[in-house]
Amino acid sequence: MPKLAIIGGTGLTRLKNIHIERREVMHTPYGEPSGALTFGTLCGKDVVFLARHGDSHTIPPHRVNYRANLWSLKEQGVEWIIAVCAVGGIRADIGPSCVVIPDQIIDYTWSRNHTFFETELASVTHIDFTQPYCQEMREVLIESAGKAKVDILSSGTYGASQGPRLETAAEIDRMERDGCDMVGMTGMPEAGLARELGLCYAVCAISANAAAGRGSGPITMDDIEASLQTGHDRVRAILEQAIAATG
Ligand code: HPA
Repeated sequence: MPKLAIIGGTGLTRLKNIHIERREVMHTPYGEPSGALTFGTLCGKDVVFLARHGDSHTIPPHRVNYRANLWSLKEQGVEWIIAVCAVGGIRADIGPSCVVIPDQIIDYTWSRNHTFFETELASVTHIDFTQPYCQEMREVLIESAGKAKVDILSSGTYGASQGPRLETAAEIDRMERDGCDMVGMTGMPEAGLARELGLCYAVCAISANAAAGRGSGPITMDDIEASLQTGHDRVRAILEQAIAATG
């Protein structure tokens, strides 16, 4: 039974080196997840992989069925989740291909199905979200980066934007004033839903570009893809160490 799941973001629709045992389409009370769950082993350890944007990368951030994704993983006995997310760097030191393990979130998304605690409640439920990421999982990732000799930034505030368009320069200025270090479109409601289900969830963020108004020109998909490729090689090295540590 896999205890660890990896949710792949933009550019990570499959895990290199995973030894695939089976792929299964899941159904949940919230509908279908983004794609089939891939069960297999990585570095000899059981792991389940889910591509957040679907196997062919066709589901935009605001249309991802985050509830079905997390529910299906929980139903399979998953306890730990490493989520890989592409971001734009707001802070000057978060350049393209930089890997960050964020420790805080500011949520700017709207109109997404963001909670399991909606109907048929015995009583109104509020989860504690003071520390939005699982500290234990974050520490595993930070130590794994050290072992893999990958430079990372070990904290930062993730600003979750609605997308799918990128931000305006003024929106990024506002996010910076608010305290955001990076901006991405998928960090919420994923982290909040994971907490509602009691899952130990942390993010490996890869900077794909300098956020709007922070680089020298327009943000292009070509630049994003090139930075993500390097970033994913770094994240893979971290994941291999992390998997060894979570078994
Ligand atoms: N903004 C929001 N999400 C992103 C970005 C960005 O600049 N880059 C990659 N994901």
